[in-house]
Formats: sequence, structure tokens, C-alpha cells
Amino acid sequence: MDRALENHTSYIGRPASELPTPSLIVDLPILRRNVDTLHEKVEKLGIGFRPHVKTLKTLEITRLMLAGGKHRSIIASTICEIRGCMPLVKEGLLDEKILYGLPIYPGALQDLVKLRENVRILLLVDNEEHIDILEKSGTQPWDIFIKLDVGSRRAGIPANSIALQKLVERADRSSAVNINGFYCHAGHSYAGRSMDEAQKNLETEISSVLNAAALLPADRALIVSIGATPTAHVVEYLKANIPSNVKVELHAGNFPCNDLQQVSTGLVSDTDQAIRVAAEVCGVYPERNEALVNAGVVALSRESSGYSGFGRIIGKPAWAVVRLSQEHGILGTNESERVAENFKIGQRVNLYCNHSCITAAAFYVYFVVDENDIVREAWIPWKGW
Ligand SMILES: Cc1ncc(COP(=O)(O)O)c(C=O)c1O
Repeated sequence: MDRALENHTSYIGRPASELPTPSLIVDLPILRRNVDTLHEKVEKLGIGFRPHVKTLKTLEITRLMLAGGKHRSIIASTICEIRGCMPLVKEGLLDEKILYGLPIYPGALQDLVKLRENVRILLLVDNEEHIDILEKSGTQPWDIFIKLDVGSRRAGIPANSIALQKLVERADRSSAVNINGFYCHAGHSYAGRSMDEAQKNLETEISSVLNAAALLPADRALIVSIGATPTAHVVEYLKANIPSNVKVELHAGNFPCNDLQQVSTGLVSDTDQAIRVAAEVCGVYPERNEALVNAGVVALSRESSGYSGFGRIIGKPAWAVVRLSQEHGILGTNESERVAENFKIGQRVNLYCNHSCITAAAFYVYFVVDENDIVREAWIPWKGW
């Protein structure tokens, strides 16, 4: 088995079952289907779409999410992702503003000033201090989205708050920024377990950004950006009276891949997961009815989902990855199945992961398979920040 990164292309044309373990495998037909499904929903609603590039961090998936130029903007969570997308900017495919996905801070501003020579950049602001920083930077005015917290308690100024009103007034007075609109991200929708909950989160998102937009004069052109993969999965139920000065855009990043967190929301099924980790059994322990695989916390992550454990074994629903250490994953079961009848040393297993964004980040190459499980491409993700 050739594990050298520079030789990953030697696997192209070979079955996934011959890949070294652990490997991250991307099922291209499922990935494409997931992307097409969301594109169709967005198109039907006639709203904008801003894919987040943070999940697979590659040119290949970004191209697919942009639908060959039908959509022309992205959100990125690292400077490195923006740099990685530069070939798409040069090709003219990515010619709308790139949103840097963390509230702006001085360390990132330096890099973004340089990048702005070649791309249009949009910043997130959720505090009056951000305006001070941009004013003091002495740079050309920045396009901004004001980021609202709609329940995730991560980034964002509380929606419908006095603090938001003050921030909008402050930003509107400042010559350092142009308010392009309002942005919220319903990260807490990952904890939902039904269509109903996802729809309620979507309603909260749209009403929050529209209330914020109403703080500015009605003749001001604004974009309101909503989303997270669970609310994107139910976006076809979006209902709102959109004022004529406001354009709605959806953002999402995890949706091409899905994972056990998304399956836990009840909005997608097992077979909508485009990502799996191939691992190999390296120990079998009948005394404790457990087996050991060579995919531990580094390969799978310690993320959780509605399913117990840190991964599920494809084709063996009674079993899960129940414990992890760095390169060790322990397979166990609550049911009456016996380990020796299910696993042998050297047996390959395929694992669904809890959170594909975090799991994918552990790998230096993604092996992309076709409908016959033959490796057709090897994608190299952007690494670092
Ligand atoms: C600011 C922001 N916008 C959009 C997204 C995309 O969300 P998802 O991966 O749930 O589609 C993320 C993901 O963390 C995010 O942080």
C-alpha cells in the first residue's frame, strides 16, 4: 500500500477497497445529488445562494456548489480558503463578493487588505468596536454584513435588540463601511430532530434579518442572508413578505456531504451521506465484545450527534465506534451480536462520521469514487488558516 501523499493519484481507477486505511472517501454521485437538490430549491424560490467552502475546502466542490457560474459568491471561514479560491476568481466564475465568515479582527484585516487587490471582500461586523477598528485602519470603505445571533450564541449581536439598533445607526453613520445587509447562521438548528423544528428555525432566521433590514430606510438595497444546512434542507418552506428593497440569499456548507448530525435532524437519510471513512480492524476482543479499528479521534473527531458514539459502521447497524483515542477506535454494541461473528482482524469497515466538516479536516487527500466505488479523482484540500 502506497501511503505517500504524492502518490495518491496511483489509486485512480482502482476500487475503493484497495485504498490505504484510514482514508476519506467521497461518493461523487451522492455529493452531486445533494448539491443539485439544494440548487433546485434555491432556483424554485428565486433567491440567491452563497455556498460555504469550509467543509471540503477544495476547488472541485466549490465549482460544483457554484453550479458552473450560476452562483457567483462564497463564504469562507479562513483566509487560506479565500486564497484557495483565487483560481475561480481568475476564471471569472467567482466575481461577486467573498464573505470572510468570522467577525473582523485586526489580524485578518491585514491579509484581507492584500486580497482585496484581486477580489471583492465582504466583512462580518457584530460590535461597534469593529467599526472603530475599520475606521482606524485607514483603509478604503469595507462592505459589511451585520451579523445577528438568532439563537446559536456563537457570533452575532442579539437579533431584535437595542444593541443591534445602536450598531446599525453607528455603521450607517460611518464612512468606513457600507452596510450590504444582515446575516444570521442558525447553527443551533443542528440540535433539531424534526422538520417542524427546522422550519421554526428558518422562520426565526428570516424574521430576524427582515426586522433588522427594517431599521434602515426602505429605499436602501439590502441583502439578507440566512441558512445552516438543516434550515437549508427545509428552505422550500420559506414564507415571508420580502420588501422590494431586500434580496434574500441562502448560505450553507455542509449540505453536499451530510453526516450523522444531519441524519439526526430527521431531514436527510443515511443514504444522503456522501462521506465515509475507510478503516481496518486491528484487534478483536471477545471477552469484552469489542473490536479495534485504526481510525481514532484524529480520523473521526470527537464530535457527537443524535446517535450514540463517534461513528456508525456501514452495513452493521448494531455497532458503533463507542470510544476513541488518538489513532484507536473501539467498536462496540448494545445488542446481542457477538464481535467474533462480525469482525476479523484485517477486515475493512466503512464508517459514517458525526460531522463531515471536522472529519474531512483531518485528511490530506479525499478519494472520490463513482457509482461502482471506483476511485475517479483525488482532491487535495486547502490546509491551515
Ligand atoms: C458563519 C457561517 N455561515 C455559514 C455556515 C455554513 O453552515 P452549514 O455548514 O451548517 O451549512 C457556517 C458553518 O459553520 C458558518 O459558520
